[in-house]
Amino acid sequence: MKNDDDADRKPTHDLSVGEMARRSGVTVSALHFYETKGLIRSARTSGNQRRYSRDMLRRVSVIKAAQRLGIPLSEIEGALRALPEARTPTARDWERLAKRWKDDLDDRIQRMVLLRDRLTGCIGCGCLSMKLCPLVNPADSMADCGAGPQLLEPGAEGKPADGGGRRKTRRAIV
Ligand code: FES
Repeated sequence: MKNDDDADRKPTHDLSVGEMARRSGVTVSALHFYETKGLIRSARTSGNQRRYSRDMLRRVSVIKAAQRLGIPLSEIEGALRALPEARTPTARDWERLAKRWKDDLDDRIQRMVLLRDRLTGCIGCGCLSMKLCPLVNPADSMADCGAGPQLLEPGAEGKPADGGGRRKTRRAIV
């Protein structure tokens, strides 16, 4: 059983790569990858083994959380590099980063909702392969709107779907 002294005593030693992997829930190879990308850094022992300072744990957690949100690694890298003296993000930094990514996340959420709602119907890709497509995308009229699955783009509700007049395509799909 831990006494109060144990509870107050914070672990201070640097972490080996195995300990870091265990504590962060990230594989050793991912840690090496992050390091080659400059996202985290380690020191070397006299025996050339990696040692991570404990603040790198927070850095890895931020990277992991951002990746879970779908933020590309290049963007995470840029955001971490922009921190003063490349420091490990504090709670305040994280708040700032989250704000910066909010618009991007909102857009991503909107696209995912559209994807979920429209996955089984015509997506306006030009394939005209589904029974509904000639009704929703007659003669591939959606091609005038641009390349790719036009009905999965946010704001697609007002796009022309009949080659001439404008109508609400969402209504046409259901
Ligand atoms: S699903 Fe491709 S054009 Fe409709």
